[in-house]
Amino acid sequence: MNARTGNEPVAAVTLDGDTAAYQRFIGQMRKLWAGPLYRRLRDEAKELGDGAGFETRLQALPTHQFFGWFEYNLQNMKYSSRRGIAAAVETHREKLEQELARPLSQGRLTENPDLAAPDYYQENDFHQHPGGLGGDAIAAVVYREGAGAAAGVVGKAGLHNRFAKAALGDRKPKRVLDIGCGFGRSTQAFADLGPDVEAVGIDLSASCVRLSAQIAEERPEGSNTRYIQADGAEVPLPDGSFDVVTSTMLLHEMPPEAIRQLISESYRLLAPGGVAVHLDFLPPDDAFLTALYHGHSDRNAEPFMHTLAGMDLDGDHRAAGFSAVEISSFAEDDAPRGETWRLPWTIIKAIK
Ligand SMILES: C[S@@+](CC[C@H](N)C(=O)[O-])C[C@H]1O[C@@H](n2cnc3c(N)ncnc32)[C@H](O)[C@@H]1O
Repeated sequence: MNARTGNEPVAAVTLDGDTAAYQRFIGQMRKLWAGPLYRRLRDEAKELGDGAGFETRLQALPTHQFFGWFEYNLQNMKYSSRRGIAAAVETHREKLEQELARPLSQGRLTENPDLAAPDYYQENDFHQHPGGLGGDAIAAVVYREGAGAAAGVVGKAGLHNRFAKAALGDRKPKRVLDIGCGFGRSTQAFADLGPDVEAVGIDLSASCVRLSAQIAEERPEGSNTRYIQADGAEVPLPDGSFDVVTSTMLLHEMPPEAIRQLISESYRLLAPGGVAVHLDFLPPDDAFLTALYHGHSDRNAEPFMHTLAGMDLDGDHRAAGFSAVEISSFAEDDAPRGETWRLPWTIIKAIK
């Protein structure tokens, strides 16, 4: 274990006063955007009628233009401005690189410097993260800070634990694979289900698996997690070695062919009776919310939300061999629905 003092998190970044104030400002602006501005747009959209041309009429509304402007620019300001997260993390680079390179317990982390990331991964700055998560050693810290600071729509505390419980119901898995683990919060949520759970997180990003492993090293409750740098479409682990294969917020960052490979890999990796369960976004059966879903895809550099929405996930799971497939909406917290813009969280669950 690393020798650390105090309660400061691994690879902590302290924002200077001006940056912290700027990020708080963005957080407050996001509340205005997702609350009153969203409600005004929703009410104006009701007057538009539905049917052909709805999206064009919606986009012509000045309120929609404000909504889109805020959505794009607040995210851009959060990450990329002079007081953005990327610049703030950069000032700590030396300390962070040292912390991420600290020795780890045996078996905690398996890196693969020869792993070739797919083109789609290298070519997109998903959710406007400058440079994405591949390549830069401290990219995972930028992602973690971005997911916490002024997070707005995807940063609800407890989201991952809530999902892990909802995903499994009465199942008591022992071996869980979390694909696209990011900085490990999704993996840890499954590991938290019990001391005899062994959770493995994989990610294409070396920075992500390193940060996840360092965080796990610091936490007694992280002792049942390990991390591997790998592609979810080709996982270097044996057939039938998991009871659960899961992902959160991964599918919408992959093109359809890569998702189909991931579905086949999940089937191969699961033991008979095992469950594949993913948390992601799919447009609900509502023209207004569907238009905002596709708008988010365009404005937030999430090109594969469009293609995910068009996939036959039920058919693709069945074609891979899965028997039962369930697609259901997921409430990320207990707040009343409909009064605030929220991404359309969806659980996709399939039994082998
Ligand atoms: C939006 S993040 C979600 C992280 C984490 N699951 C969470 O909920 O906090 C998506 C993650 O998937 C990883 N990723 C994207 N494509 C992948 C692939 N083909 N195989 C493995 N990881 C991938 C990215 O590097 C990133 O860390």
